[in-house]
Amino acid sequence: GHSLAVFTSGGDAQGMNPAVRAIVRMGIYLGCKVYFIHEGYQGLVDGGNSIRQATWASVSGILDDGGTIIGSARCKEFRERPGRLRAAKNLIDHGINNIVCIGGDGSLTGANLFRKEWENLLAELVDTKQVTSENAEKYKNLNIVGLVGSIDNDFCGTDMTIGADSALHRVMEAIDCITTTASSHQRCFVLEVMGRHCGYLALVTALSADADWVFIPESPPEPGWEDQLCKKLKNTREMGQRLNIVVIAEGATDSEGRPIKCDDVRALIATRLKYDTRVTILGHVQRGGCPSAFDRVLGTRMGTEAVLALMEATPTSQPVVIALSGNQTVRVPLMHCVEKTTAVAQAMADKRFKEAQDLRGRS
Ligand code: F6P
Repeated sequence: GHSLAVFTSGGDAQGMNPAVRAIVRMGIYLGCKVYFIHEGYQGLVDGGNSIRQATWASVSGILDDGGTIIGSARCKEFRERPGRLRAAKNLIDHGINNIVCIGGDGSLTGANLFRKEWENLLAELVDTKQVTSENAEKYKNLNIVGLVGSIDNDFCGTDMTIGADSALHRVMEAIDCITTTASSHQRCFVLEVMGRHCGYLALVTALSADADWVFIPESPPEPGWEDQLCKKLKNTREMGQRLNIVVIAEGATDSEGRPIKCDDVRALIATRLKYDTRVTILGHVQRGGCPSAFDRVLGTRMGTEAVLALMEATPTSQPVVIALSGNQTVRVPLMHCVEKTTAVAQAMADKRFKEAQDLRGRS
């Protein structure tokens, strides 16, 4: 039978455990030996007790747990070839040549690189007598499937990443609490939500929480936004609204690329409008707590599909990411998605740079 391993890498996200559970159970159901690699790429590099066989029972009762029971880490050693060489040896020692990587775009890029290097790593392991040529032949193909686990929903190729929906649930709970007290005191609240370079969480938050204003990295506000913002808030108050909510994505900038920060926006509103204004930075609360029903099902569907994709891989097939596309789980080429995700980030940076240049030209 086949052997496959699963690990979680980068920032954790609610729904990783449902995915891990589905991978273990689908793997066992299909007659595979399934392994956990603990602490992400670090466990792959360390080997030994970091790679342990999973059983049906080892994933009992984790469907409703947030985070990841097998741990996650950002690993420097795997970025260097000697680290990847050790990782390759550890996999062969365990008889594993099928892996599922659950992580963000950085983690999936690493997986793709590892797969490209595989043949070369094996050759070095044989040359240095760390691996027998029989084993090198037996495990000459490395099959990799990626699942995107991230609260940021910042990956091209999938409609939703695992964890984004749960993070929105956390944000909604927090804002619902804030609005009751804000209303009592007729206050304005400036809220920062996570998302790294992506405005998805902030945008959906603003829509769902009836916010008055939102700042997202994808659409920096026009110069003079300070006047527009204050005018908008003043109008709503004059129409009888008792509170204001301003949402800021953590990666938001103005059109010159300067970060837009809660404290500055708070000071602006307090000074100009004299509203009692407070700041709440929601922080890691957003990444915590149990996965939503959506993420439990999404993780389960993606995990199941990942195992099928591994079992159907051929020596010539390219690594895939399991994506959600219009409510279907589909397989999309990993490299294409990573490249597109990087290109979008680059295009945004270029756009900001050009806008800043234009502004300077005008002044
Ligand atoms: O990618 C998930 C995320 O929570 C981002 O939204 C945030 O920018 C980052 O991770 C925080 O990283 P850390 O947990 O290492 O502080």
